[in-house]
Amino acid sequence: MDEFDLPLPDLAPGVTRSALYPGTFDPITNGHLEIIHRGLSLFDKITVIVALNVSKTPLFNLEERCELLQECFKNFNGRVAVDYTSGLIVDYAVQNNISAIIRGLRAISDFDYEFQLALMNRRLAPSVETVFLMTGFKWIYISSSGIKNAARFQGNISGLVPPHVEAALKRKYS
Ligand code: COA
Repeated sequence: MDEFDLPLPDLAPGVTRSALYPGTFDPITNGHLEIIHRGLSLFDKITVIVALNVSKTPLFNLEERCELLQECFKNFNGRVAVDYTSGLIVDYAVQNNISAIIRGLRAISDFDYEFQLALMNRRLAPSVETVFLMTGFKWIYISSSGIKNAARFQGNISGLVPPHVEAALKRKYS
């Protein structure tokens, strides 16, 4: 049997290719936005999903994080939706008939964690694929925590997050 003699995945003509982009988004940064922009060249629709990372204590509550995200995508013609889950990402994907999870990689240091997450997700739901996109060079050094640390001490975070996120951070730390 040929190595590639595998059944082709079902994809009806005209089907919408959708992906999930999960994260804590505390808060969303321009690095995340760049991944979403690039993801839109591969997928018709991306659902940005605020999920629970049990080892993090977010600065912005769930509602605030969703609002900050929604503001980013109001002019995206419905191609980016925002939602949240307190459960497993793969369960959300399966329940909503979404077969891809997008994750951004910034540096080698991300790889180990992302590899484990992707393999666990594959074990939980083999029909859901993880797609890794390289973060743009401009954003490889930023993280939500780094930006919060700078904002806490009135550092200049302009250009690292959208203006409404910058304003929200300033309000939090004023
Ligand atoms: N540009 C800039 N920063 C980026 C980035 C990019 N392109 N991509 C990631 N980051 C940063 C984030 O800002 C974040 O920084 P922080 O740690 O300072 O907050 C960090 O990289 C990673 O965060 P994020 O991508 O939000 O992932 P996470 O590790 O916080 O959360 C979940 C990952 C939410 C997807 C994961 O916990 C999850 O899937 N939870 C649901 C339960 C589940 O399904 N678990 C898996 C199976 S057990």
